Amino acid sequence: PRLDARGRYVLPGLIDSHVHFRTPGLEYKETWEHGSRAALAGGVTTVVDMPNTRPPSLDEAGIIAKADRIAGRSWADYRFHIGADPDHPELLADLDPRTATSAKVFMAGHHTAPVVFRDGEQLRRAFAAAARGGVRLVLHAEDQHVFDLLDVGSGDPDSYGQYEPHRPRSGGIVAVAQVVRLVREYGTKAHILHVSSAEEADLLTAAAAEGLPLTFEVTGHHLSFTHDDTTRRGPRTRLSPAIRDGRDQRRLWQAVLHGQAATLGSDHAPHTVEEKNRPPAEAPPGLPGVQELATAVWTGLQSRGVEPDEAALHLARLMGDGPARLFDLPGKGRLEPGADADLALLDPSERWQFSGRDVMSLCGWSAYEGWTFTGRFTTTVKAGRVAWDIRTGFAGRPQGHWLQGAARSLEAAR
Ligand code: NCD
Ligand code: ZN
Ligand code: ZN
Repeated sequence: PRLDARGRYVLPGLIDSHVHFRTPGLEYKETWEHGSRAALAGGVTTVVDMPNTRPPSLDEAGIIAKADRIAGRSWADYRFHIGADPDHPELLADLDPRTATSAKVFMAGHHTAPVVFRDGEQLRRAFAAAARGGVRLVLHAEDQHVFDLLDVGSGDPDSYGQYEPHRPRSGGIVAVAQVVRLVREYGTKAHILHVSSAEEADLLTAAAAEGLPLTFEVTGHHLSFTHDDTTRRGPRTRLSPAIRDGRDQRRLWQAVLHGQAATLGSDHAPHTVEEKNRPPAEAPPGLPGVQELATAVWTGLQSRGVEPDEAALHLARLMGDGPARLFDLPGKGRLEPGADADLALLDPSERWQFSGRDVMSLCGWSAYEGWTFTGRFTTTVKAGRVAWDIRTGFAGRPQGHWLQGAARSLEAAR
């Protein structure tokens, strides 16, 4: 189809650097085909996928096995975060940058996190090895186990991933402070995922101002929902880390608007309806979001009175330039000579209601059902061709590639 961009913002194809597309082993929750279609319909043309699969991807062989399963099935380009193995943290010193962009450290556990760092010594060895290897760590820094280790847990099996009014400082502040100390000591590059509270954002902003190589991500759901939604809407917005209250949400918007956050991620983490409806102690935390992320953030920026031109720059930074720099994605996330021809066209003012029928994730539900969005992605161009259009749907075959060996830099391409 011909490209008609009248009245649209033309954004670089967006990057979602935090998705769980569930390959291998959890394809009953999501398939790569469904997840990558949802990406394209949300303006996202590149994803970086997480390692908490069955089995988890903890070494090069695991990453290659995963890539083999994905080949030919992805509508979006992709790279991987490898899982940092608590039993073999020194592997990080030798990680080949073509294998993975970075290594994920889980500092909290649940059935969604198969490998968890539980003691400070493992963590210290991982930071030291990653610093030697020049590897960036991406961290799920949550306090659950810190509290467990100190034996001051709430004792309440329902509490994981829930907001706990009796522990108003729960969340990630202890874990994040520990990360800051280790970064100061070893100089390891560290990106904190899904920051959920005002205190964490304050601490990380101050640490970055010191010149430490620390960055952080904010998710669409921590910007879109508050704890009240979890009370009202039930288990869909039960997440790890939990969604906090209005004060935290306002602070996270400040991090977006003031350039403190480096990336926006969806933490696209589908589970089946049946799993989400289990009793809290057994229900896995997580929600889908790769399709909704940029539209929900655009809606939030509009409702906060941000001028559309400025809002477009925020999106292009947080889902373009920001993740492209952190995760070595040359040619992605920027509109400039020599860049890949991946584009997302956004109608900035259409108001429309998101419904269950719009959901492209295999899980078939969304926490945004019933929301009125402002702004709508209409066309996604992948490698110079219209790959998805709101009127005509998906065109041709999946054309996404593993950006392995993306050692090619823009400079070299010229
Ligand atoms: C994620 C999942 O389901 O894989 N769940 C979540 O609540 N965020 C795990 C994670 O990102 O830590
Ligand atoms: Zn996480
Ligand atoms: Zn995640």
